[in-house]
Amino acid sequence: MPSARLGSILLIGLGACALAGSGARATGPELPETIGWWTANSNRIFPERASYPDATGIVTVIHVGGAVETRGHPFFTAIGRNGRACITCHQPADGMSVSAESLQARWTQTHGEDAIFAASDGSNCPSQPQQFASSHSLLLTRGLFRIARPWPPHGPDGHPILPQFTIEVMHDPTGCNLDPVYGLKSTHPVVSVYRRPRPAANLKYVTSYGFAFDPKSGLPLAIDPATGLRYAGNLLADRRARTLEEQALDALRTHLARYGPLDAAQMREIIGFESHVYVAQSADWVGGSLTDAGAQGGPDALAAGKAAVLDNPRDPQWAEFASWGHDSDPRETPAQRAFRASVMRGIGIFNERTFLITDSAGLNSMNFGNPTRNTCSFCHNMTRTGMDVAPGQVDLGTTNEPFADPAPDLPLFKLTCEAKYPPHPFLGRVVYTHDPGLALTTGKCADIGRITIQDMRGLAARPPYFSNGSARTLRSIVDFYDRRYHIGFTEQDKKDLVHLLSVL
Ligand code: HEC
Ligand code: HEC
Repeated sequence: MPSARLGSILLIGLGACALAGSGARATGPELPETIGWWTANSNRIFPERASYPDATGIVTVIHVGGAVETRGHPFFTAIGRNGRACITCHQPADGMSVSAESLQARWTQTHGEDAIFAASDGSNCPSQPQQFASSHSLLLTRGLFRIARPWPPHGPDGHPILPQFTIEVMHDPTGCNLDPVYGLKSTHPVVSVYRRPRPAANLKYVTSYGFAFDPKSGLPLAIDPATGLRYAGNLLADRRARTLEEQALDALRTHLARYGPLDAAQMREIIGFESHVYVAQSADWVGGSLTDAGAQGGPDALAAGKAAVLDNPRDPQWAEFASWGHDSDPRETPAQRAFRASVMRGIGIFNERTFLITDSAGLNSMNFGNPTRNTCSFCHNMTRTGMDVAPGQVDLGTTNEPFADPAPDLPLFKLTCEAKYPPHPFLGRVVYTHDPGLALTTGKCADIGRITIQDMRGLAARPPYFSNGSARTLRSIVDFYDRRYHIGFTEQDKKDLVHLLSVL
């Protein structure tokens, strides 16, 4: 993208905006920092507002409450043993996740020495020779970190759970699940699955819910005895943490290799920081500012908005863009007008185009019947983030055979449900999967391949998509749905949906 264009958009759309983490830096880190890349212990100021160019426009990150001094702050400090901090994998320029492209650039710049490539989960398996890029291929090509789940599973409270199925490794190019030290048959058996970092932002939405019960199962949401609040059930791909505190403890132990406890003040600082961060696309190269001409895009509207509950259940999803460019804006160029109209059509498709949703456990297996005719916004129903207002674990077929995209680079497991338990509702007693998802937390056959619906904001800054990185681009997400549910989108429908996703 020509830089003149960027300059003019920044000026028109954002006024005097801070590009890429300005601020004082006292002691330099050992490895080079590039614009926008944060290393642990960089002691910079985390600005109140920062904007970064991405594939289709500009992503903006705000911290409500002002700039943050990061020196010694536990989100920014390597408080474990591997030189990483939370910020290492939750990069502002990448929408508080990290894109595969940034990981490749970082690999080249640091010759693979950056702490983000740590053997434990930044390589395909710690047993691989760490100096070779091929040992980090899942991170470098799909942006995936290794998540090692205990087997048999443990519930979020640490209690072992008797699983309803056995698990065998059919094929594992990473070697990890078959490894004598790290594999399923080791002395501490674990299942290694590979997942994208979810944004550490917009968490008000991730941790809230629309109903005191789960409308799919009819059961009340469990209550956190510590706070008296209900668990929303939307954290992490497999819901293994119920609260931000449980999530942070899990991240500290696994991603930061910190084995000791964390004092309560540091825990409050971590959760306090991440709970005030909002991320969204704020300008589009073609469409212009996303906070102009009636649109209420950008992170400020997210910060101001009410969480989870639909403001008005009759409002269609993405109502914040609904009047974008409607009043004919004399400054609008023809290209802008055409782009905005395409986004509007994308919103219409998202809310109104129905298709037959079939064989998707977590949805068709619940109260809705199989098949059920509905829309994108049926599953993606939470205002402003497109998450689910109920616990949102659904098996779209992103990880389960036969619907998963071919993934010869990922492990493939064969799960066999024991005769005394109910089988998987649609796939029977034997299920082949790249990631059992929720079933790694609950041990239930019916939960195999159910993955939590993510926050949909700031997408343009953090490809690839879906928990296992199987969709390389926004277009591949739309193509997946078209194939999976035989929707029959036209080329124009697909473009319109991609344009919508690109401005979120
Ligand atoms: C090595 C990279 C890495 C580091 C370091 C890291 N994370 Fe993450 N984070 C991830 C991955 C991968 C996921 C998704 C895991 C999954 O879905 O199973 C994630 C998910 C999250 C989520 C869940 C968001 C959601 O929508 O479910 C939060 C919150 C989060 N991380 C906060 C933190 C905090 C706090 C720290 C520091 C204590 C941290 N992360 C350190 C990689 C990392
Ligand atoms: C049956 C429920 C359901 C329907 C219908 C549905 N989705 Fe999803 N969506 C999900 C689930 C579950 C995920 C997470 C899957 C994963 O990560 O493997 C998801 C993830 C996504 C993501 C996030 C990708 C990321 O990595 O952050 C986007 C974007 C998305 N869907 C768009 C759409 C669009 C567009 C439609 C309509 C064509 C649609 N969805 C219809 C359940 C649904």
